[in-house]
Amino acid sequence: MESTRILLEAHEIPTHWYNVAADLPSPPAPPMGPDGAPVKPEQLAAIFPPAIIEQEMSAQRWIEIPQEVREIFRLWRPSPLVRAVRLEAALGTPAKIFFKYEGVSPAGSHKPNSAVPQAYFNKQAGIKRLTTETGAGQWGSSLALAGQLFGMEVRVYMVKVSYEQKPYRRLMMQTWGAEVFSSPSNLTQTGRKALAEIPDTPGSLGLAISEAVEEAAGRADTNYALGSVLNHVVVHQSIIGLEAKKQFDKIGLYPDVIVAPCGGGSSFGGIALPFLGDKAAGDKRAEKLRAVAVEPSSCPSLTKGLYTYDFGDSSGFTPMMKMYTLGHDFVPPGIHAGGLRYHGCSQLLSQLYHEGLIEAVAVPQLATFDAGVQFARCEGIIPAPESCHAIRVAIDEALRCKQTGEAKTILFNLTGHGHFDMSSYERYFSGELEDFDYPAEEVQKLLAKLPKVG
Ligand SMILES: Cc1ncc(COP(=O)(O)O)c(C=O)c1O
Repeated sequence: MESTRILLEAHEIPTHWYNVAADLPSPPAPPMGPDGAPVKPEQLAAIFPPAIIEQEMSAQRWIEIPQEVREIFRLWRPSPLVRAVRLEAALGTPAKIFFKYEGVSPAGSHKPNSAVPQAYFNKQAGIKRLTTETGAGQWGSSLALAGQLFGMEVRVYMVKVSYEQKPYRRLMMQTWGAEVFSSPSNLTQTGRKALAEIPDTPGSLGLAISEAVEEAAGRADTNYALGSVLNHVVVHQSIIGLEAKKQFDKIGLYPDVIVAPCGGGSSFGGIALPFLGDKAAGDKRAEKLRAVAVEPSSCPSLTKGLYTYDFGDSSGFTPMMKMYTLGHDFVPPGIHAGGLRYHGCSQLLSQLYHEGLIEAVAVPQLATFDAGVQFARCEGIIPAPESCHAIRVAIDEALRCKQTGEAKTILFNLTGHGHFDMSSYERYFSGELEDFDYPAEEVQKLLAKLPKVG
């Protein structure tokens, strides 16, 4: 009997992260400050430690992973690469479907891959407290865990709709010692303003980021940690793809298509970019490789947004980044994949998309749950709603192979398990979940409010 799980040993945990900035066809557009000039490292120092700022601006291809971070990674890494043979059989496809399972981390997703190094570099810089935002609760719980492992205090602003839908995520964060507040909250100016304007707002990631940044900027002992979007987070998540490459080497295969959900872009970048690095280096195996980012049709930043400078948060505290955006005050409907409710997308991925080096597709919510349930019934694992987006597209690719007879190798990022998302599944089973296509006129209205640069 052949094994379906391709495993690595602890000593095979990568020693360096991969940074795609070194392999971009043209230099990345710099983030811009309020004065319309490129942001200087000193301007970021109010909320980030030096090592993170260096990584954010680095064009070095390889960045060393500190030994202390690798030792903590041993708690769940290397994560398994699994061949979904039962799903393949159910679909009757000649395709080989693999998934990299990031749900094995204590927090249940890929997010601790960046939370641990971020807490580590802050601790090294003498920082005692961290603030952050969380959508689905995955990032907040990951930072709560990382803070606990390094003896740091963590305060989490949790998007109101998720705070209400996911009490167990909140309790998880509290178990790891973090304080959790529903966002918008009364603790910050941003929160109070948002509540005064729309008292029953569902909140948004952009708003929660503003609250966390506002607090961090106002306290010397406190820094801010972001769970996606920024370059350093995408760099940290490259550990997923780097491990997957070693695992494929073990079985003498190479993916033809890589699929991942895309919120801020870190899990997509994490799994796909190390392989695209092979392509940039002229590796013949990667010549025809396709990488597909999957977003919800209710929050379609890559597929319907504009490629322009915009703020990373709703209040305009962050530098302006050149990215695909739906407008910084875009408040997406309360879809269940909370982690995909972000108005923009990573600058690195936006540039790659703009240059035609990656693909993107938007899918409706119900079809993603159909795919997630089909996957769970074949492979056992109940996926997070965000991950269901990747499964939908992986299944569609496999079904296309069934029609063409091609035996492609498909790799998708199973970014997390859905054990704390069962209320979303409940709504799906009871027929209460609905599809929501964001109206194009709304996007146009919001885009009219974009900041002017230069
Ligand atoms: C399980 C899971 N997958 C994917 C995402 C999307 O985020 P990103 O695009 O940064 O990977 C999230 C975000 O919270 C998540 O929790």
